[in-house]
Amino acid sequence: MNGQTILVTGGAGYIGSHACVELLEAGFNVVVIDNLANSKIESLNRVRQITGQAVTFYQGDIRDKQVLTELFSKHEISTVIHFAGLKAVGESCEQPLNYYHNNVYGTLVLLEAMREANVKQLVFSSSATVYGESDSAQYSEHFPLGPINPYGRSKAMIEDILRDLSAADSITKSASPWKIALLRYFNPIGAHESGLIGEDPNGIPNNLMPYVSQVAIGKLAQLSVFGDDYPTRDGTGIRDYIHVVDLVKGHIKAIAALAGEGFRHGGCKAYNLGAGRGCSVLEIINAFEKVTDRKVPYQIAPRRAGDLAECYANPELALKELQWQAEKTLDDMVADAWRWQSKNPAGYA
Ligand SMILES: NC(=O)c1ccc[n+]([C@@H]2O[C@H](COP(=O)([O-])OP(=O)(O)OC[C@H]3O[C@@H](n4cnc5c(N)ncnc54)[C@H](O)[C@@H]3O)[C@@H](O)[C@H]2O)c1
Repeated sequence: MNGQTILVTGGAGYIGSHACVELLEAGFNVVVIDNLANSKIESLNRVRQITGQAVTFYQGDIRDKQVLTELFSKHEISTVIHFAGLKAVGESCEQPLNYYHNNVYGTLVLLEAMREANVKQLVFSSSATVYGESDSAQYSEHFPLGPINPYGRSKAMIEDILRDLSAADSITKSASPWKIALLRYFNPIGAHESGLIGEDPNGIPNNLMPYVSQVAIGKLAQLSVFGDDYPTRDGTGIRDYIHVVDLVKGHIKAIAALAGEGFRHGGCKAYNLGAGRGCSVLEIINAFEKVTDRKVPYQIAPRRAGDLAECYANPELALKELQWQAEKTLDDMVADAWRWQSKNPAGYA
């Protein structure tokens, strides 16, 4: 497997930069395309600092077919890991066209360029937000889909497109069928243990962990905990948090699986990437206070529309078919997030 070249779209971003580190350390060559809409080139300098190896970087947009065609003609890509996309749920409700254009249309352009270059192995960043309502708090891959915001719908649409693309292979009896893994992430948090790369959100963070970190370092005054009257063990919402390094290791396992017996005749399959257990907001705050020895001031605020009481992954399929499971603990996630935050109070700026 070593020596293969992987194209990482969105490779300068939070998860993408961690994926670059794991790929380089596993012996892959890495080509990144990123338009830096939500990231900084410094993340890739840090990747080089960690690994002693460089990625080949194209500053470009995945909606620009010409750039992709040039890139595929210059590099012999075996697999694409497709992280590039916009990801803020609230913003997607305000700017749905921007989200569909970037995420859905961007993926269509990428897929056309891949087909023309005969590159047909793809690992796609999907999300637990594609799931619909369910009686169970533990989500399995066969549960019905039913996203409730434009961001989640953009991911569900892309999943549909990818399933259709794969299904077409059996009609056309393609000799080189598509091999596609849809990885449904739960809540990635934490950072590389070096403290050199991590999540660097623009403006006020949307997600809990960067928010908590910024409160602890004094950049933000206090955290709002949305709802303390959910039917959960302490009344606050429960989510499945997964260390970003565990998460990206799942991508390397997915690349191996796509090349293996299970995908010999092609296919498109979804896998949950989660820890398989939930933590409440108060448990996160407590872990943070314990690891950092700092207070995290918070106030209880009303529930937010659309938030579930509890949601966590059934990760058994990823264990069975990808031989992957999350290994790091909540304390690891918190300690690593804090190392990144305290070493880089202004992120990459
Ligand atoms: N972080 C999460 O909580 C989470 C959860 C589930 C799924 N995901 C998905 O994982 C992927 C990566 O997420 P992340 O947290 O690293 O986000 P991120 O914003 O840090 O990374 C995305 C990267 O894609 C780039 N990008 C966006 N649109 C582009 C375009 N049209 N052309 C080229 N580059 C483009 C951005 O500049 C950024 O560097 C996204 O697709 C996201 O939807 C993230």
